[in-house]
Amino acid sequence: MMKALVNSRMTLRSLVAASLAFGLGSVSVAHADGAKAPRAHKASPKTVKRAQPWWTNAVIYEIYPRSFQDTNGDGIGDLKGVTQRLDYLKGLGVDAIWLTPFFPSPNADFGYDVADYTNVAPEYGTMADWDELAREARKRGIRILVDFVLNHSSDQHAWFKESRASRDNPKRDWYVWRDAKPDGSPPSNWESIFGGSTWQWDEKTKQYYYHIFLKEQPDVNWANPDLKNAMYDVLRFWLKRGASGFRLDATPYLFEDQSYPEDPDVKGGPPVWLKPYNAELPAGNGILRDMRKIVDGFAGDNILLGESSTASIEGLRKIYGKNADEIHLPMNFLYGNLTKLDAAVFKKQIDDMHFKLDGLPPVTFFSSHDHSRQWTSFGDGVHNDRIARITAAMTLTLRGTALMYYGEEIGMADLTPGELQHFPLSMIRKVADKRDPERSPMQWSGAADAGFSTSASWLPVAKATATTNVEAQLRDPGSMYNWYARLLDLRKSNAALRDGEYVSLESGNPKVLAYARKDKRGNGVLVLLNMSDAPQRVAVSGWSGTPPKVASVLMASPAVTTANLSPSVLEPYAAQLLTFTAR
Ligand code: NOJ
Repeated sequence: MMKALVNSRMTLRSLVAASLAFGLGSVSVAHADGAKAPRAHKASPKTVKRAQPWWTNAVIYEIYPRSFQDTNGDGIGDLKGVTQRLDYLKGLGVDAIWLTPFFPSPNADFGYDVADYTNVAPEYGTMADWDELAREARKRGIRILVDFVLNHSSDQHAWFKESRASRDNPKRDWYVWRDAKPDGSPPSNWESIFGGSTWQWDEKTKQYYYHIFLKEQPDVNWANPDLKNAMYDVLRFWLKRGASGFRLDATPYLFEDQSYPEDPDVKGGPPVWLKPYNAELPAGNGILRDMRKIVDGFAGDNILLGESSTASIEGLRKIYGKNADEIHLPMNFLYGNLTKLDAAVFKKQIDDMHFKLDGLPPVTFFSSHDHSRQWTSFGDGVHNDRIARITAAMTLTLRGTALMYYGEEIGMADLTPGELQHFPLSMIRKVADKRDPERSPMQWSGAADAGFSTSASWLPVAKATATTNVEAQLRDPGSMYNWYARLLDLRKSNAALRDGEYVSLESGNPKVLAYARKDKRGNGVLVLLNMSDAPQRVAVSGWSGTPPKVASVLMASPAVTTANLSPSVLEPYAAQLLTFTAR
C-alpha cells in the first residue's frame, strides 16, 4: 500500500508535510521499500508548533464537481473524478479544495437547492466515493471544504415537503411562512436576488413562504431551535466523515427583519442583496458563533470560509466576529468583484484589507462559479496571457488566504456566446444558467472531449482546449500552469511570501501597482505590476527607513534578467517579483 502512495508525486518529504499540515504530530513514514506503514492519523495539535494556523496563508482550490472530471461516462463530473485528479492538485501545490454542492438536488440552481444535506447525488457517486475521496485527499495533505447551503433548502427537501403539508405540521415553522396582506398581496414588497418577489404563495395552506433566491429555494427559519439543531447536525455529519470545514453559502441572509417593513425604494438604495431588512441582521452572528464552536470542537484545525458579501471593509471586519470567533475566512468581495485593472483601485483595496482588518487574514479571489473567469473579465483580447499572470501574481503574493477556481491555472476562459448558442438543453442540462460560461469542463487535454468525459459533456468543452490544456502546459516551462505552480511554490518556500508583512509602496506611476512582502530580517519580495498596455517607468518609494537593496529577479513576465530599479521601465502588462535584502 505504501508503495502505491510513495509514487513520483508523493515523495517522503510531501508525506511528512501532509502529516504536519493536518496537525498530526509525529508520524512514522514508510521507506520506499514499504517496510513500515504510517501510524493511523490522529490529531494531536500540541506536538506541532506552527507560526500560524494553516488556513491563514492557504491556497484553496474551488472545484465545481460537475465540470471537473467524469469517470462514468455520463457527461457529468463526479467525486471519483476528483479523487482521480488529486495527484494533479498535489503537484500544483494547493492546500485545500472547496467542493461546490454534490448533494441530491433537483438542480434548479445546480446543487444550491439541496434536497438532502447528508448524502451524495447519484450523478456524483455514492457516500463510499466521498469516503474514498476524503481518505485519499488526507493522504496527500489536501483538506476538503464542503459547501454548506444553510440559508435555504430545495423545495423538494423532505423538511419543506412536511412544512408545506399543513399549517399544523411540526416542521411548519422550519421555514418562513406569513399571511397575505388583507388585499391578498405578499407580506412585503421585497425582491429576491434572482428577480421577482421574495414571497411565494402556497395555494394549499393559503400562506406565503419566503425565498431570497429562487422560489425553489425556500429560506429555512433559523429562529426555530429544531431547525437550528438539525442544521448543526449536518456540520457534525461531514466533520465526522473527513471534511476539514465548510464554505458557507449566502451567510448574510439567515434572518430578515420580522416586522417586514415595506421598502419605499425597492429598486433604489442599496443593492437587492444588501438591503437593511434582508441582510446582515445581528441574529446571524449568533449562528455563526455556534458554527465556529462546532468546527473548532473537532480535532484538526477545521475552518469556515464564508460567502459573505458586504458593502464596506468595516462590514467585512465584522464577519470575522468581534473576538475573531465567527467566520475564519470571509471572502473579500470588495476585491473579488473587481474586473478592471486599475492600480489605484487595487492599491486602496489591498491597503484596506491589510490595515483595516485588525491583522486577520484577508481572503482574495477573482474567479468562481458565480464570477466570470479572470482570463475573460480582465483580458483585453490582446494581452490576456500577460494580464492573467498579473492577476495570478496578486492572488498568490498577497498576505492571507487565496482562492483559485479550477482551470484558472491554465488560463481557461469563459465559454463564448457562440459556443453556448448551439448547445441545446438536454436531460442533463434542463435549464440554462447565465453563469454557464464560467462552468465549462476542465481542459485536461487537447482532445475534442478535453479528457473530461467519454460522452457528450453537460456543458460544451471550450474550443480553446486544443491549445489550452493541462497536458500541454505541464510540458511547457513557460506555460501559465508553470507560472502558477512556481508562485504556489514560492508562497511556501520563501519566508517573506509565506508569513512576511505586507508593505504598501508607491510606484511613482499611477499605472503601476507596487507592494512588498518583508520577513523579520527585512529581506523580501518586491512586486511590480504594470496595469496598462504601454511601457511604464517606475521609481519605487515608501519604504520605512533605508530602502533595501534590490537583488535579483525571482519571476518576471515577460522575462527579464536584471533587477534594475534606478529607475526601471516595465513593458506593457509586465509582472515582476524581485528579491531585496535589508541594507
Ligand atoms: C451563492 C452561490 O455561490 C450561488 O451559486 C447560488 O446560486 C446562491 N448562493 C444561492 O445558493
